[in-house]
Amino acid sequence: MKFFIDTANLNEIKEANAMGILDGVTTNPSLMAKEGITGPSNILQHYRDICSIVDGPVSAEVIATEYEGMIREGEELAALHKNIVVKIPMIIEGIKALRYFSNKGIKTNCTLIFSAGQALLAAKAGATFISPFVGRLDDISTDGLALIEQIRTIYDNYAFETEILAASVRHPMHIVHCAEIGADVMTGPLNAIKALAKHPLTDIGLQQFLADFDKGNK
Ligand code: G3P
Repeated sequence: MKFFIDTANLNEIKEANAMGILDGVTTNPSLMAKEGITGPSNILQHYRDICSIVDGPVSAEVIATEYEGMIREGEELAALHKNIVVKIPMIIEGIKALRYFSNKGIKTNCTLIFSAGQALLAAKAGATFISPFVGRLDDISTDGLALIEQIRTIYDNYAFETEILAASVRHPMHIVHCAEIGADVMTGPLNAIKALAKHPLTDIGLQQFLADFDKGNK
């Protein structure tokens, strides 16, 4: 299972990368705005900065919602660095853009996936990744993990190569359940990734080992 970090914060990306477990980065316009990154040239430079930290796929989202605009923006983003993945929303114009980029060998991430039908369309259009939003489905009392399971079954039925990138992951158990179901990738915040390492018995056990070492080495 690949681990992506879902942030535009360079310090968090550096911290996750230093742990040695980071496979890639996802961003979106909200995450860029949260870091105060605005204006086309600053946004493009920020993607370059992210690519210089992590050696893996970096999703960069188009803002246009019509086909020609998506193609124009996507090509500009893809030209920034070999690891850029063009992130495209699940709308009809987006499906056409997915097919265009797939035919050109440019990697894509189809975002804002909330149903199995959308996931099926994106795979048919040749998306490299799809991003079903687990947490946002949970927020409206719908089982986000059940969607991941349903998509896994559909993709396996037909050997679709599109990777299921579980997004809007909010906590460590989302990550563990996604791994059980067989999501290819998860993207989540740094605190959810770090929380996987925590266990009170680990802390108690370590304290005890260190105390016993001190006793024996006085
Ligand atoms: O990867 C999608 C993600 O950024 C959305 O997460 O927590 O805003 O639902 P969230």
